[in-house]
Parts: sequence; structure tokens; C-alpha cells
Amino acid sequence: MKEEQLRDLLNSMSLKEKVFQLVQIPGQYFLSGVADTGTKTDGRPTDEELALVGSTLGIFGAKTTADIQMQHLKRHPHHIPLLFMHDVVHGLRTAFPIPLALGASFSPELVKQCSAAAAAESAASGLHVTFAPMLDLVRDPRWGRVMESFGEDPFLNAKLGKASVEGFRGCDGKMPEKGRVASCIKHFAAYGAAEAGRDYTGADLGGRQLREFYLPAYREALNAGADMVMSSFNAIDGIPATGNEELLRSTLRKDWGFEGVLISDWNSVGELATRGVCSDLRQAAKLAMHCGVDIDMCSFAYARHLEALVCEGEITEAQLDSAVFRVLELKNRLKLFEDPLRGVTPAGEERTILSPVSRALARKAVCECSVLLKNTGKQPLLPIAPERKTVFIGPYVDSKELHGAWAVSTDPEDTVSIRQAAEEFARVQGRQFIFSKGCRMTCREDLGPKSEESAVMAFREDAFPPQIEISDDPMLKEAVAAAESAETVVACLGEHRLMSGEGASRGELTLPEDQLKLLRSLQLANRNIVSVIFTGRPLDLREVCALSRSVLLVWMPGTEGGNGILDLLTGSAEPGGRLSMSMPYCLGQVPVYYNHFNTGRPKAENTKIPYYVSAYIDIPNSPLFPFGYGLGYTDFSVSGFELGAEKAELRNAAEAGPVTVRAMVKNIGPRCGQTVVQLYMRRPSAEALTPVKELKAFQKLALDPGEERELVFTLGSDAFCHVSADGSLHADKGTYRFTVGLNSESEDWKSLELL
Ligand code: NOJ
Repeated sequence: MKEEQLRDLLNSMSLKEKVFQLVQIPGQYFLSGVADTGTKTDGRPTDEELALVGSTLGIFGAKTTADIQMQHLKRHPHHIPLLFMHDVVHGLRTAFPIPLALGASFSPELVKQCSAAAAAESAASGLHVTFAPMLDLVRDPRWGRVMESFGEDPFLNAKLGKASVEGFRGCDGKMPEKGRVASCIKHFAAYGAAEAGRDYTGADLGGRQLREFYLPAYREALNAGADMVMSSFNAIDGIPATGNEELLRSTLRKDWGFEGVLISDWNSVGELATRGVCSDLRQAAKLAMHCGVDIDMCSFAYARHLEALVCEGEITEAQLDSAVFRVLELKNRLKLFEDPLRGVTPAGEERTILSPVSRALARKAVCECSVLLKNTGKQPLLPIAPERKTVFIGPYVDSKELHGAWAVSTDPEDTVSIRQAAEEFARVQGRQFIFSKGCRMTCREDLGPKSEESAVMAFREDAFPPQIEISDDPMLKEAVAAAESAETVVACLGEHRLMSGEGASRGELTLPEDQLKLLRSLQLANRNIVSVIFTGRPLDLREVCALSRSVLLVWMPGTEGGNGILDLLTGSAEPGGRLSMSMPYCLGQVPVYYNHFNTGRPKAENTKIPYYVSAYIDIPNSPLFPFGYGLGYTDFSVSGFELGAEKAELRNAAEAGPVTVRAMVKNIGPRCGQTVVQLYMRRPSAEALTPVKELKAFQKLALDPGEERELVFTLGSDAFCHVSADGSLHADKGTYRFTVGLNSESEDWKSLELL
């Protein structure tokens, strides 16, 4: 439809019709018999309202969406199609590894491919928009939603965010490509800075922190063509994001020129009233509208109050029209006016869902994302030598719940468990494995003490019952016997998938106690333990590492989890992941991240007993495993690192570089393998603190044994500039330092003078 036609359509709509284009309601209301014709005040749409609604979320399926769309078109006075939106965060039916794992792949190409495959399944199932990628920078593993993020680094977040947007919608700046979906980035902004890791809280951030660390990924994703933005639940410096004029109107709309659709998060318009920044739902609707929130997701504030606000002159009709036009424009860009079903058919859906190509990609992704944390000994246990008698023990051996908290549309029945994969491998290779559960899976509900009880717990004598004797536990006994009979024990342990995700903050970061007991008992029976750890967040893995000779972190690996893990254990693939979030030494260190500011009293490396320096007296400052860290099945060296120049000219405040950085990388180990070479920079001191290190470039590459390659990084203005207070890009003169290495602890510095 041409722009004038769209304007004519807008002009012909009644006020109520316009308002309801901005109302999003859960998909269930469209499934038969849910809507009612009753009162307008109970938060449910009437039949008449349902016919006018502009978008829905949470339902998919070629037939379901087609039936709803066709009926909607008939009932809507102007036959305006519905938008179907959904959380396809890391896969629809084929679950890929969680985003935190994808972050560890350090591979924009992989992220793009996984997003494209997820988009193909989504589009084939009648969806138009995915609420993804989630671009919240994260530093605190207590927050359950770190699993949805690409990690703690703004540069990596931005690169992977861009790749994800391009994968979901394609690279046509104007419209999502055929067979793809529009991408709604979230949660704007700084939701990841949740105070103390508790969900839905505030972010106590200054503007500089916001601009330098938290905003760049959203910005880059918008430059890559993201179609929509979702405002977040959190407050920033006391102002909830959904009612934050500076954030939404000034930064997003004015400074960044975002002209797409801005949607609230679920009920976050209503929560403006709950949180007390608005007196009631009507004021909340007014504030959100004033800030430029186009669609109200599920709070009914717009549905109930927008019409009156316009009639009474508190919101101008022009404001309303702009918001509605943006929604109509999105529908138009998706070509829904010409083809409301976007060519979706049940047969096409059948072909696309869980296709062999998607499954193969998901399997490869498991290998690219898994991080080998430890593999010690003269003859490391991994990859497992074929002749070794191996047992698989733990609650994750049989589990098909490998898809994480946000792959809400997968069917666990489609997932390949470790046992299934191992049995298939054994059948093909003519080998045999033993399997044992060892202990039950601890679920989210088992974690106590429960909220209100907790205050009195400490005063109750039975609050900490004596340790139950578990040696008579038959499950444990069987597992120990299995471990005794084997040469290698693969312990499959971890958090249950619902122990991370939305509303799943944790105050402890260890494995469930049952599993630690199991691991301790196994280690007494057999020292050759490979621990395979499933998790949606960084954990305190000190004890696991102490009790295991090898530790493989597989995150929440998704539908092909079992197969991918078997590929890694048996050596047909190599763990390609490098941590995208620091793995803390212990809970007390949290938040711990590599790109922190220096202090006036840094702890010198050789300080034994720290006095009056910035350090803990009982634990190290460094995490157990740093950002960028991960092992493979071979070793690499980095040498000959040099800068293209020792001095360079700063042409103006926002133009520095290009500067080249070269290094030689060599595979010095016994087999081919891959690594991620990382370039970090330290900016000169200026009027504000600068991080001790910032990732500026990385390259993932595979080399044969003995092979050496020269890597050249070219740093342009982007690398040197940061956003200054007025929003402009700015580079400082002074000494820039660079280091190249295989993780963020590299300290081989070289300097460049920017004159
Ligand atoms: C709430 C979550 O915060 C958001 O990420 C999600 O997209 C919406 N619900 C819709 O499910």
C-alpha cells in the first residue's frame, strides 16, 4: 500500500478504532470462547473490542493464526489485519542454545544463522514479530535473565545484536524479508542492571554508564534495521523506563531518530501506577503515550483510557495518529494488507519446523557455544578415549528439558537427551555405556526457604536440620557402584531450566546440594570425573572444579543438546565457546566483570596481604574464569603482536584511526582446533574514569596443528570514540594501550600516542 493510501486509511478510522490499534492482548482471547461481552472494567476485552485490537502475542501455528486472521479481517470495520507477535528468543520449535551461550560462541555468523532459522520457523507458523533479541548488558548472575543476554561486554553485545537482527528480519533495511519476521529489540533500557540481581527493580546508573555500557547494543541493532523496540520494566535513576521521557523521547526518538513501533513490556504501562509514579491507570496511559509508547502490551490502560484522554484534550489526536500510523506502517512493511497470511500454509509449516537443516545447525551451535573450563592432567580426560569404559551419571542424563526458560514453544519430546545421543553413538561404534541418575533433579520449587518464612527461619531451631545420612540412598548407591566400575565418569549436573529466566533471581550460585553430594560421593569412588554443567547463568563452580578433572559448560543447549554434547565428549567436535560473562569466584564477588573502572588504590599483582587497597581480604578480586576464557582440545600461542604505528593523529574530536594491529597465532597443539583472538584497549585518562580494558575486536579462527597465521585488526574511529555527555562522539588525545590475547586477562601491552 502506498503511503497516501495508508494515510487515507488512518483518516477514515474512528477514534476507537485508532485506539485499539495500540492495544495488544494475549492470544488466548482469540481462541474460541475466551472473550466475553461483559463489563469493560475487568481488564478483559469485549467482543466488540476484540474485533478492533491491533495485535496479539503468544499464539502461533499456521492454521491457528490463519483462522484468527481471516475472522478478524471479516470483523474489523476497515479489515485491518492483526499482528501476531511472540517471544522467539532462541528458537521456536527447534531450540538453539540460550543467548548467553550464543554470546560465548563469539560468532556473529552463527548468531545470524540461528536467528534466521528461528525466523523461518516463526514466519512459517504465522508469526510476524519476534520479541528478540534481548540486548540488555548483564553483570550480575543472580539475575535470572542473564540467560537471555549476549553477556557483559558492550562491543560483543552490539556485534551479536546486529547479527541477530539481520538473522531475524534479513538485511533489507526497509522491510522484513519473506520467510523472516520483524525484530523487536528489548528491553529498553538497562534492564540488565537489576539491583542486587532482583528482577523488576531499578538500575542505579549515571548517564555516562548508560551511554557507554548499556546503550550501544540497542543502537547498533537499530542501525541494523530493528523494526520495534520494547521498553523495559526497570526504573533508571528512579524513573521507570516506560514513563521515561528522557530515555524514550529524547534519546530513542529524537537523538537516534527511531521511527518504528515502540511497545511497552507486559503491563509495564499499568506498573507506572503500581510503582507510584502515576496516580492511576489513566495517568499511566497518558504518561506512556506522552513518552512515545505506541503499543500497550496487556495492561489495558490504553484500551480503557486513551479515547477519553484524547476527547478531553490531554493527548492530542495528532499524537495518537502518529502512534497508529507507525503500527499501520509496520503492517504495511510486512505486506499484510496485500497478503494477510504472508503466504503461510500448514504444508510449508510442516516442512520448516524442526527441519534437518535446523537440527544440524542447532547441533553445531552446541559445540560452538560450550565452554571447556578445565581439562587437566598429562592425558586430559577430554575428548574421552574410545577404549575407556565410561558411565554417565546425574539428573541430566535422561533429561529432555535442555531448552532453557525462554524457548517457550518447544516440545521437550523433540529434544535429544544425553542418554539418547550416547546410546545412538554406542550403537554405531559398537560400544557400551552405563547410565545412572544418582539423584533427583532439583527444581525451582525445591529451593527454600520460601519468602515470608525466611525472616523467622534463622530463629527456628529446626531451620538447619542435621545432614541426612545418604549412604543408604539407593539412587546414590547405584551411581557410586557405577562410578567404581568405570574408567571415566561423566557427571551431568546443573540448574533446572526454570532456575533461570524471568522472575528467577537466585541468592545462591552453587549447584543444588543434592548434586554436590552426588559429585563428592562419585569423586571418592573414581577420580576421573568429567563434569558437564547445564546452567542459564554463571555459577560458583569452585567445588565442581575441585572435584572434577574436566569441566564442560554446556549452558542450556537446546533441542540438539544431547547430540552436540556427545560430539564434544567424543572429540568429533571441539568446544568453541569462550565466556561472554565472567564466572565468579564466589557470590560475594558479584557483580564481577572485566571492564570495570580502575580505582585509586588498585591491588598490585604481588600483594599478598592487602591493606588499604581495593581488594577483599578473604577472596581474590579476579573471577574464577574471566571473560573471554575457554579451552579447546589443542593449544594456541599468540606472538609478534605489534601496532601499525606508535603515533597517530586525532583529526578532530570524533575522528581517529585507522590503526592496524597485527599478531601471529599458531596452533601449537596436537590436533586441529579453533580459538578466539581478542584485542583489548585501554583509553587514556580523561575527565572521567575509563575501564581498565575494553574489547575492541575479535576473530575466531581454526588452524591445523603447527599452522600459523597473521591476524590483522583495523581499528577505525569507532574504537577510539565514546559518547560524550551531549551525545556526540568524542575521542581523547593521549596514550592508548593495546593487548592481544586469548582471554581478557591478557596483559601484554603496547602503546599508541594519539596526538
Ligand atoms: C515479559 C518479558 O519481560 C518480555 O521479555 C516478553 O517479551 C514479554 N513478557 C512478552 O512475553
